[in-house]
Amino acid sequence: MSVVVTPRLILRPLVPADVEAYVAMRFHAAVAQWLPVSDGDPRERAHATISAFAADWSARGYAPWGAFERAALNSGVSREGRLVGHVGLRFLPEFDGTEVLYAFHPDLHGGGYAREAAEASLDFGFDVVGLSSILAITLETNVRSWGLMKRLGMTRGPDGRYKGIDVVRYNIDAATWRARRT
Ligand SMILES: CC(C)(COP(=O)(O)OP(=O)(O)OC[C@H]1O[C@@H](n2cnc3c(N)ncnc32)[C@H](O)[C@@H]1OP(=O)(O)O)[C@@H](O)C(=O)NCCC(=O)NCCS
Repeated sequence: MSVVVTPRLILRPLVPADVEAYVAMRFHAAVAQWLPVSDGDPRERAHATISAFAADWSARGYAPWGAFERAALNSGVSREGRLVGHVGLRFLPEFDGTEVLYAFHPDLHGGGYAREAAEASLDFGFDVVGLSSILAITLETNVRSWGLMKRLGMTRGPDGRYKGIDVVRYNIDAATWRARRT
């Protein structure tokens, strides 16, 4: 399981001890409204998600990370701060492809954290995992989400359905991503 450090974040696989902090982010009303409906007790749902992500780390070598604030220490060394989001890669059988996904606590919206973490996810997907393309899906009404897809250089189409809901789809291939990064 991989850990990635960005200028302001530490991305690492979630563990059961993260469940309370994960619930506070994932089930915050401003976040949950944009994610698939998740019935039942949030704590149980969060445990199930953390387990599913851990299974994907073992089976595929990639899955979403928890995103933690990177707090600087005087020595120049950084330590992990609070859990502020989830971000990373997940295989979607419905699209026979791998998506980049992201969700951040509303305290951090508009600060560029999601973009920073999504860029690290695409670097990881193309350069470490060796994927040839990565997709992203969201509701057409989730302007902040598809706005980020566009800022990452992803292009739209073809749209589809996920869990019975119409979604817009964006895509980027490895060559296009590498050209943007150089
Ligand atoms: C979707 C979501 C992750 C987008 O987060 P975001 O903070 O808007 O996205 P970014 O990280 O790209 O931040 C962009 C904004 O930060 C600003 N910003 C501030 N400092 C910045 C920096 N250092 N670097 C980059 N952008 C910065 C940008 O100008 C931009 O503002 P603007 O949109 O007003 O132009 C967030 O809205 C969210 O978690 N939503 C709920 C869950 C969700 O919908 N997930 C997606 C489901 S498909």
